[in-house]
Amino acid sequence: MSEYFRKYIKKEHYPNHQQLFYLQCDFSSNIKFKTTFRNCVVDSLKKRGWKEVEGEDWDLLWVERDCIYEILNHFHLQSHQKVNHYRNHYELTRKDLMVKNLKRYKKQLEKEGKYEEANTFNFFPTTYNLPGDYSLFVEEFKKTLGSVWIMKPIAKSQGKGRYIINPLLIGGKKFDMRIYCLVTNYSPLTAYLYRTGFGRFTHHRYTTNIEDIANNYVHLTNVAIQKTSENYDERLGGKWDLRSMKLYLMSKYGQEKVSDAFSQIQELIIKCLQSVQKTIINDKHCFELYGFDVLFDSNLKPWLIEINASPSMTANTPNDYEMKIGLLDDTFTTLDLEKILSGTEEQIGGFDLICRGTPVKLPQNSTYLSHLGCQNNRNQQLKKLAKSTASRLVEHYNSEQSQATGNTNDEKIKPGNQGSSSGTAGLSKK
Ligand SMILES: Nc1ncnc2c1ncn2[C@@H]1O[C@H](COP(=O)(O)OP(=O)(O)O)[C@@H](O)[C@H]1O
Ligand SMILES: [Mg+2]
Repeated sequence: MSEYFRKYIKKEHYPNHQQLFYLQCDFSSNIKFKTTFRNCVVDSLKKRGWKEVEGEDWDLLWVERDCIYEILNHFHLQSHQKVNHYRNHYELTRKDLMVKNLKRYKKQLEKEGKYEEANTFNFFPTTYNLPGDYSLFVEEFKKTLGSVWIMKPIAKSQGKGRYIINPLLIGGKKFDMRIYCLVTNYSPLTAYLYRTGFGRFTHHRYTTNIEDIANNYVHLTNVAIQKTSENYDERLGGKWDLRSMKLYLMSKYGQEKVSDAFSQIQELIIKCLQSVQKTIINDKHCFELYGFDVLFDSNLKPWLIEINASPSMTANTPNDYEMKIGLLDDTFTTLDLEKILSGTEEQIGGFDLICRGTPVKLPQNSTYLSHLGCQNNRNQQLKKLAKSTASRLVEHYNSEQSQATGNTNDEKIKPGNQGSSSGTAGLSKK
C-alpha cells in the first residue's frame, strides 16, 4: 500500500473499532508478490510493505514477458492473482505485428466509411515486413529515391521502416521520448497515462551526412548504446524529464503548438490500444505497463517508434530511480490488490485515466488537452485519494452495520483522529 494510503487509512485512526475489517484485512503485509527483477520493481514492491515469496502462493507476479505464456498455460490462476503481461502482448510489442495491427485497423475504419478517423492513423513510419512485402518495398523505394530506411530485426524476419530524417533537435541532439501507459483491461479498454516520462538524448550532434549514417551514437537514442559513448553524461544519463522538456519546448515553440503535440501523443497511444482491442486475449488476471517510444519530427509531429512490454525498470540516475519507484508505486495502487478503490477514479497518483471504453476527454476549458508532461502532483493526489477512500470505506461500513443490526442509532465510526471535534469525513491530520 502506498505510504499515503498507509498514513490515512490505518487502523490506528480507529482505535475503538479494531474489528473494522475493511481497514485491517488487506493491509500491506498481507499482499504477497513474486518477481524475477532485482531493480526498481522489487524495491517499490518492498517499499509498500508487501511480502516477497518464492512458491505459488502470490497475489502479484511481475516477470519478463517471455515467461507469461508458460505461466498462463500451466497454472490455474485464482481470482485475486495478477500478472504483468497479456498472453499475446506481442501483437503490439513486436514491431512487425504492431504495424500490421495498425494498418488493419485503419483499413477497417475505411471499410466502415470512417475516413476522417482512418486518416489520423498516420503516426507510424511507412514500414515493410521482409521478405513478404519485398515487391511493395521495392516499388516504394523507387518512388522515393533518396529517402533513408531503417532496418530492424523482428524475430526471424526483418522489417524496414522509413527513417525520420528530420527529428526535432534540442541543442543539436536527437532525442525520443519514453512514455508509460498502464492497461488494466482490454474490455472495456481501460488505460492510464503517466504524467512523467523522459526524453532520451544522443550524445553526438545530429547530422544527415552520409559518412555518419551508420554511427549509432548520432542516430539511436537507446541508453544501452549511448552509455558506451565517450561523451556519455553519467549525472543526467542522457535523460531529461518530460515536464522540463515540455516547458522548454513551450518557451521555444509556443504553448499551443507544444500542448497540441503532447495531446497528439495521447491520441496515438489510445489508437494503438484500440487497434488491438479485439486481438489481445483479455484476461482479468493480466495488466500491462507499456513503454511507448515516440519521436517528434522538426514540425513537432509525433511518430510512434516502438512499444515495449517490459520497459526498463533499472534506473541510471537518482532522478530516474525516484521517477520509476513512483511510477511502479502508482501502478500497484491502480491495480488495487487491496480492493479499496471505487473503480471510478480518474487520477491515481501520477496516472490519469485516458480511456474507459471510450477515450476520456478533458473539459473544453482546460489549459491542456492532455496531462502528459504536466506537473506530476502524485503526492498531493494520493493524499486526497486516500482521504476520500477512507471516508467512503467508513460510510460503507456504517451502512452495513446499520443494516445488519437494524439500528441506525448504533455508535457510528467517525474517521479521523478519535476525539477530534471536526466531523470532516475521512480526514485525519498528519
Ligand atoms: N523510423 C525511425 N526514424 C528515426 N529514428 C528511429 C526510427 N526507428 C528507430 N529509431 C531510433 O532508433 C532507436 C532504436 O529503435 P527501436 O525501434 O526502438 O529498436 P530497439 O528495439 O533497438 O529499441 C530509437 O529509440 C530511435 O532513436
Ligand atoms: Mg526502443
